[in-house]
Amino acid sequence: QTEQKEPPMPNQSPCRVCAGTVTEFLDLGSQPLSDAFRLPEDTSVEFTYRLAVGACADCAMVQLMEEVPREKMFHQDYPYLSQGSAVMREHFRALAERFLSTELAGEDPLVVELGCNDGTMLRTVAEAGVRHLGVEPSGAVADLAAQAGVRVRKDFFEESTALSIRDQDGPADLVYAANTFCHIPYADSILRGVVALLKPGGAFVFEDPYLGDIVEQTSFDQIYDEHFFLFSATSVDAMARRHGLELVDVERLPVHGGEVRYTLALPGARTPSAAVAALLAEEQARGLHDRAVLDGFGDRVRAIRTDLVALLEDLKAKGERVVGYGATAKSATVTNLCGIGPDLVEFISDTTPAKQHRLAPGSGIPVRPPAAFADPYPGYALLFAWNHAAEIMAKEEAFREAGGKWILYVPDVHVV
Ligand code: SAM
Ligand code: TMP
Ligand code: ZN
Repeated sequence: QTEQKEPPMPNQSPCRVCAGTVTEFLDLGSQPLSDAFRLPEDTSVEFTYRLAVGACADCAMVQLMEEVPREKMFHQDYPYLSQGSAVMREHFRALAERFLSTELAGEDPLVVELGCNDGTMLRTVAEAGVRHLGVEPSGAVADLAAQAGVRVRKDFFEESTALSIRDQDGPADLVYAANTFCHIPYADSILRGVVALLKPGGAFVFEDPYLGDIVEQTSFDQIYDEHFFLFSATSVDAMARRHGLELVDVERLPVHGGEVRYTLALPGARTPSAAVAALLAEEQARGLHDRAVLDGFGDRVRAIRTDLVALLEDLKAKGERVVGYGATAKSATVTNLCGIGPDLVEFISDTTPAKQHRLAPGSGIPVRPPAAFADPYPGYALLFAWNHAAEIMAKEEAFREAGGKWILYVPDVHVV
């Protein structure tokens, strides 16, 4: 008589938004901290965690199954700089100008930015003489913001920070966060803080990578330690309601591989735009949160892994040089999922001082300044910063003219 085996239980964890059940749909394996670039002489054991992503059956929020303690990611030496892309500098300058003529056009307005980093957005606000505060826990980048004339508080934003800011500066017209809210698992504390900090007519505006684009383009490298949530209109709408807020606008953005800018306000304070209902309906129609759609995404990720490793092995066998371009946090997910090391990718070219002359996390691929890229040009460049493709390809025309080719792995593995 054969024993009847139960199918294995899917991995589950409690939802960080509603305490419902999150069921895993993709496992990306053991991963290092995505922004922990190591000195070559560092022989300490690297911190790792299991990178897996799941969806909540109750509120639809897509989130990591395991949380990395925030102090391990955001500290004095956090290397990422917002100013590293000309396109992003212009994006934030234009947005600051828009805020100055809309949300910040009233009497003695106040804007609070979470994760202001090097002050790329707030410096335009500071130059206009408008009251502002950047909240930024990572020491070195906060110092750069202060040097640019931005008022910064070196702190993690959470409910207690919000209450203390309100005591000191009064209520805010605008709370803003770019590529930061999705980094914060304690979303409930953030939203309680935002509600406590905002004026009755104020708004919480945040922009983060959009689940809809991630699934459509199979941009699985958007999943890493810092990206705890992958937001959609559906999940943000549900989260806002739980906190007595209303989703009143959504705007799709072309930056960072596809983002959505969400605007939340107190209920009844603003009339929701037609774009909100339209995006909610679109997500429903395409079944964005359906299990089959999320499972299909996982299948395509595994196909990309197979194809990318095959291509790199083939180029190595042919004696071709392959160099990485952009030591993005995203690249940690790709290299460590695919087992790509210095044998397949010689080094990664990157403009960020705090990443250079170090080894990329997990993979151990050296990071070099851009001058190394042209000295001499490799035959192939693996574009880890694919979200900045237009800017980089325009800047690197000489590479193409020298016969160089770009390797991309989103939405599938291809050479251009
Ligand atoms: N806003 C910038 C941009 O879009 O380029 C920086 C984004 S960077 C990926 C995320 C930033 O959020 C980091 O500078 C990090 O230190 C900061 N951060 C992380 N947790 C935070 C928190 N609880 N409150 C405020 N900032 C936080
Ligand atoms: P991001 O995709 O998270 O913005 O990271 C982009 C990384 O790529 C960052 O480390 C800076 C680097 N980079 C370059 O090395 N050259 C460039 O031209 C651009 C735009 C970015
Ligand atoms: Zn939930």
